[in-house]
Amino acid sequence: MIKKCLFPVAGYGTRFLPATKSMPKEMLPVVNKPLVQYGVEEAIEAGMNTCAMVTGRGKRSIADHFDINYELEHQISGTGKEVYLDSIRNVLDNGIFTMVRQREMLGLGHAILTGHSLIGNEPFGVILSDDLCINDGPGVLSQMAELYKQFRCSIVAIQEVPEDQVHKYGVIAGEPLKDGIYRVDSMVEKPDPKDAPSNLAIIGRYILTPDIFDIIRDTPPGANGELQLTDALQTQAKQGCVMAYKFKGRRFDCGSVPGFVEATNYVYENIYQKEQG
Ligand code: G1P
Repeated sequence: MIKKCLFPVAGYGTRFLPATKSMPKEMLPVVNKPLVQYGVEEAIEAGMNTCAMVTGRGKRSIADHFDINYELEHQISGTGKEVYLDSIRNVLDNGIFTMVRQREMLGLGHAILTGHSLIGNEPFGVILSDDLCINDGPGVLSQMAELYKQFRCSIVAIQEVPEDQVHKYGVIAGEPLKDGIYRVDSMVEKPDPKDAPSNLAIIGRYILTPDIFDIIRDTPPGANGELQLTDALQTQAKQGCVMAYKFKGRRFDCGSVPGFVEATNYVYENIYQKEQG
């Protein structure tokens, strides 16, 4: 039912410098696969096979990654090495990739607004590929797409985090309905721990209804002077309904070096080694 997923991939990745000086942080590999490909696979699994990338300067290798490399295909065609291309060939066979460039980095809200021309007037998913989510059953975005069928409003993924970590996230307050689903009353971006309404932090998975674009246009800059998606969602929550969903699965904060290393070890031990037999 939801066909498109937006990927804001224009950020600088300063925490990984110098690795990210001339290479997009989204292309950093977790074992043998770039971070952004994990996100794209999750979107395609959820039926959102149009992947709309909001990219920026210095991010051309992301567009190249989601395209054929004829020379490489030619070189390894018919050899035992073809198997290494299986996962990306599968993505290319099933995905459609559209791109727009964000010229200035004015915040996540601004990145989403920049993607408006790629999304149009329909509900869509959003994946922040820094948040790597891994699970055995359906992926996080699939779980959320199922919920959308029931609620038909914006949905944010949430997770409980330690109280001394809430300042890094958007945090929600809401009324629990059932099975980890909350109706959101209010939400705040990067609160002081003493002002945080709860320890339920937003993780980088969203389903958004397209009225969000007009709301973002009318939203003033918020935390860190940036145009915040959380502030626009707060308006949507007041106007109608925003749901929050405690997803099933493990999430790794690959926007930080410790989270990235943890993800690498986990994927190596639990996925890569098993695939290698
Ligand atoms: C963004 C969002 C924030 C969310 C977080 C999840 O923040 O603005 O609400 O909790 O992603 O990773 P960022 O990490 O880009 O500062």
